[in-house]
Amino acid sequence: GGCAIDKFGVPLPDETLNVCKDSDSVLLGAVGGDKWDNVPSELRPERGLLKIRKELKLFANIRPVKLYSSLRDKCPLRADIVRDGIDLVVVRELTGGIYFGEKKAVNEPGNVYSYDVEKYSDYEIERILRSAFEYARKRGKRLTSVDKANVLESSKLWRRIANEVAKDYPDVTLEHMYVDNCAMQLVLNPRQFDVIVTSNIFGDILTDEASVLGGSIGMMASESRREDSFGLFEPIHGSAPSIAGKNIANPIATISSAAMLLRAQNLLEEAAAIENAIDTTLHQKYRTVDIFDD
Ligand code: IPM
Ligand code: MG
Repeated sequence: GGCAIDKFGVPLPDETLNVCKDSDSVLLGAVGGDKWDNVPSELRPERGLLKIRKELKLFANIRPVKLYSSLRDKCPLRADIVRDGIDLVVVRELTGGIYFGEKKAVNEPGNVYSYDVEKYSDYEIERILRSAFEYARKRGKRLTSVDKANVLESSKLWRRIANEVAKDYPDVTLEHMYVDNCAMQLVLNPRQFDVIVTSNIFGDILTDEASVLGGSIGMMASESRREDSFGLFEPIHGSAPSIAGKNIANPIATISSAAMLLRAQNLLEEAAAIENAIDTTLHQKYRTVDIFDD
């Protein structure tokens, strides 16, 4: 991210990319910072993040939301809503849609406009839906596909393909939900969800919302996948420049991303050891300020 811009003039040097390509898995830290907020947009650290996902072809981003029992009262929802915990997974499409579509900014006298294109092809929708169905099959067998098919053409296609793919997964129940309704349902009744599948931008927005159900955005890990066993693991949060250098950042999202990495490499005992360590630490009330028990 930023330090690469300072040293090499780009947020993601080829050398870094090649090291990642030669690895079995990648653990990635948060990128960005105030210092690089005003560099040209194609050089921002965030572009490096989008590029690494695209270059590594990581089209499926899996973001589990978990509320640890010891953090129940850190969840902003009423106790009766989260009495039975929260356990849902968002599968976000990661290499298509509006974040990668054609963009333009025109700034001429009397002619000022910008646009970003939300474009999805059938194969992109099909492969993310298949990943999500596979994921749902291993969990509660309920899949909610989130779109805005009452307004967007790209969402209408999304919904049509979702219904077609569903025929191959008769054991999984598919439901469609508009994204605005989903944003509401996540705080009204998060228990209704098992696996949510959605586009890049909707997934980005809904997972910030969903993450705080687990107490803090500093708790939420993620895994980005493609068809083989390669994966990139990262916290869903950014670099939080407002708290940089204060020694108060919550490391759990990154630590549990490492656990997800180990699990994906079939190092199950090692993954469980990390997860148990997180659990124990929380129970012993060692906490960062975002989840502090006062
Ligand atoms: C995330 C982040 C990134 C994204 C940003 C930093 C580009 O918000 O991983 O959710 O939008 O994907
Ligand atoms: Mg985000």
